[in-house]
Amino acid sequence: MKKILKNIPLILIVGLLLSRIILVSCTKEKVAVPVITNAPDPNCPDTIKFSTTITDMMTNNCAGCHGNGGTPPDLTAYASIRDNASAILASMGPNGTMPKNMTKLADTTVQKFSCWISQGKLNN
Ligand code: HEC
Repeated sequence: MKKILKNIPLILIVGLLLSRIILVSCTKEKVAVPVITNAPDPNCPDTIKFSTTITDMMTNNCAGCHGNGGTPPDLTAYASIRDNASAILASMGPNGTMPKNMTKLADTTVQKFSCWISQGKLNN
């Protein structure tokens, strides 16, 4: 008991310091105001069409191996492309290996797939 009484000044000082730190960090904290704009993504000026651009991209570069019961994921069907979109994008990206053993797709082509994802993976 005596020990605690002896330490009361110390406890008070530490407490004061702590509250001071908390106060300072609170008042210094700036709340980021989200900027909401309807400006179109400059990287994706056009709406990418699944029925032409994405289907052609998959048919010409991927479907030979990824379709008709071949290696998963099936890249000939909308639902499968939609559900595997992130893995598909990564597989074509700088660290990806697809199309396997072939020349990598042009960045502008891969960008279109990325735009299709950010535009909501439409079945358009
Ligand atoms: C020559 C055959 C071949 C072609 C063409 C091909 N793939 Fe693949 N893919 C494979 C094989 C085999 C695997 C299984 C994993 C492995 O062996 O690398 C695979 C795995 C994958 C996977 C799952 C594994 C991962 O990397 O996340 C994805 C996604 C994929 N491929 C996407 C694609 C896309 C997109 C294209 C076209 C741009 C494509 N592939 C073209 C053979 C192919």
